[in-house]
Amino acid sequence: MPLKTDISRAADFFNEEDSNHTANPQFDQVLDTRLSRRGLLRGAAGAAGAGVLGASALSGCATAGGTTGPALTSLGFKPVAKSLADKVVVPEGYTAQILYALGDPLAAGVPAFKNDGTDTAFEQRAGDHHDGMEWFGLDASGQPSNSFNSRGLLAMNHEATTDEKLSSFFIHANGGTASLPRPAAEVDKELAIHGLSVVEVMSNGKQWTTRQGSAFNRRVTTLTPATLHGPARGSEHLVTKFSTDATLCRGTLNNCGTGKTPWGSFVSGEENWYGYFFRDAQDDDRRKKDKQVQALKRYGRKAGAASRHGWESAGAQEQYVRWNNGALAASAKEDYRNEMNTFGYVVEMDPYDKSQPVRKRTGLGRFAHESVAFAKPVAGQPIVAYMGDDARGEYIYKFVSDAKWDPKDASPANRLAAGDKYLDKGTLFAARFKDNGSGEWLELSMNNPVIAGSSYFEFKSNADVAIFTRLAADAVGATKMDRPEWNGVHPRTGEVYFTLTNNSNRSAATADAVNPRVYTDMKGSKEQKGNVNGHIVRLADATPAGSSFKWDIYVFGAEAGADKSTVNLSNLTDDNDMSSPDGLVFSPATGVCWIQTDDGAFTDKTNCMMLAAIPGKVGDGGARTVKHGDKQVTTYVGKTPTPATLARFLVGPKGCEITGWCETPDGRAMFINIQHPGESTAMADVNDPAKYQSQWPANAGYGAGKRPRSATIVITKNDGGVLGT
Ligand code: FEO
Ligand code: CA
Ligand code: CA
Repeated sequence: MPLKTDISRAADFFNEEDSNHTANPQFDQVLDTRLSRRGLLRGAAGAAGAGVLGASALSGCATAGGTTGPALTSLGFKPVAKSLADKVVVPEGYTAQILYALGDPLAAGVPAFKNDGTDTAFEQRAGDHHDGMEWFGLDASGQPSNSFNSRGLLAMNHEATTDEKLSSFFIHANGGTASLPRPAAEVDKELAIHGLSVVEVMSNGKQWTTRQGSAFNRRVTTLTPATLHGPARGSEHLVTKFSTDATLCRGTLNNCGTGKTPWGSFVSGEENWYGYFFRDAQDDDRRKKDKQVQALKRYGRKAGAASRHGWESAGAQEQYVRWNNGALAASAKEDYRNEMNTFGYVVEMDPYDKSQPVRKRTGLGRFAHESVAFAKPVAGQPIVAYMGDDARGEYIYKFVSDAKWDPKDASPANRLAAGDKYLDKGTLFAARFKDNGSGEWLELSMNNPVIAGSSYFEFKSNADVAIFTRLAADAVGATKMDRPEWNGVHPRTGEVYFTLTNNSNRSAATADAVNPRVYTDMKGSKEQKGNVNGHIVRLADATPAGSSFKWDIYVFGAEAGADKSTVNLSNLTDDNDMSSPDGLVFSPATGVCWIQTDDGAFTDKTNCMMLAAIPGKVGDGGARTVKHGDKQVTTYVGKTPTPATLARFLVGPKGCEITGWCETPDGRAMFINIQHPGESTAMADVNDPAKYQSQWPANAGYGAGKRPRSATIVITKNDGGVLGT
């Protein structure tokens, strides 16, 4: 809708009362109080005091460049320089406002965050390490809306926490306990800062704020009951003391990327969940011929290895002992040997209805899930979801539903029932990339004789494929990739883009056409080897549900000064050089591709960043040959980007990664997450702010204390225009 109408509707909203919010005079007072303690970060030319929605916002078309209207050909901002400053840098004419940080209260009556390690009640506060995030609009009366631009819900992941020696030290008064056993009081806080949150946000036309006490605000933690769905529901490998019929489980963990389903729900990928479990050194022997020993090793849980936080050590109560996944009792119904198998899925949540437990969609496989991107749904055709498994040498997947898309399901009466329909029955595939620029999807099901008759691992059913997905992809010979992170579907071409963030294990011997680079990069005096800076591969799927595709490399990450024949194959410049692409989302409003970095290789020259891109399509570049000694690898590189088609838009504060991306439907407000600023701070310095790697967001005027906090920021154009254009 035109922005002018939206502003007037927003004004109406602030002058009425409904069941979901307080009377507006009170609300405005609360808003004003909150805004006075919130930091504003302006781009170099941002006029102080300029409204978020200025008069010139009334011109321009939000859909230009999106899926309709003329395609964008050039980005509309001046690229920002690389930065090592402890602040958020945005282009001239843009403003970034801090909105929602670790510990911010969600429920009514929860006190403001003191940020000194004494805070409690994290079940009712923002979690830590904000990650993937999606926008769910609300209209003035609090009903779901796909067009209102001033009020909505942010649903997001809280992936992990900044830690050292077991302890999440910034949330404990003196850094917490760095040895076993961990005190229950510390573990209780750590259990609560992981998971998901939903927070209502709104704009008064000038500023955005969260709404403490909104009936929509929600936390899902590592302890929140969830239900198991799809082929693995009821499997013997999901039986636990908590759910002897394997239909229920508890919590979600290490949630990284997100997605929004065509039926309007939120999906979240569980990523590095295995590191939170412990089984003692005798567990392999105790399990004897249990085929899970092979799977436990394949998924990174060796017997005797320490868990990330030692949660299993905090006491005899269920919420602690469940993190010991050893076979300790007489049967799986009496212990938690299968508890780890209840993690590693795509989790679906209805952000508008917190009465409904989240659902684990086992049909989408179990691995280190990142984002889930859906192909544009076509009436009468299957739903297709693309996913990556983020570990070195892991795979790219797609899921194709049995059910055919019914456009009426775009606004269903029950979103999670629609999820049951489209995500619980279908087929999973893993990608094999061929050297000639084509590829094929390999079916992971008992219909594939390679799986059903595998001598590598015993697959008895599609439940086994859903739970031991990595082994199924091994068995069929999928292509081992350079850490598949997020993916996004181009709104015009339908091509799917996967970030391959980096791979220190890539060697000349394993270099192939789709993972072709192996080189040494210096970070100070430190040698970094393999595919140091990552790349972005894109696939033109024959039909969304087809069995073959074409591919090329859209762009290779690199430093601008790196060798152009072996490293900087995309000819990046100071305006767009980058390393370790991770988050990747196409704007529905503009079609701009937003690329975010989570990097440790280029951080001697710049903090992590976000770039905007207008990519072309598969095949718009050409073949290139890369030499590794005597070996030559031919790859396919997309058309060389220019600063008009790929440009740095934002640089974050010290020690952070940039992640999570969503926008209002008009494309005039963008929300992103600054995750783990100051993560290299030493635990021993927790009470010495002068030694923190970062003091953001406190140093930008946001909140109490000086301990760094992960936070959501909102970015707007000072003239109210559409972002990036
Ligand atoms: Fe949580 Fe692979 O990033
Ligand atoms: Ca370097
Ligand atoms: Ca990530």
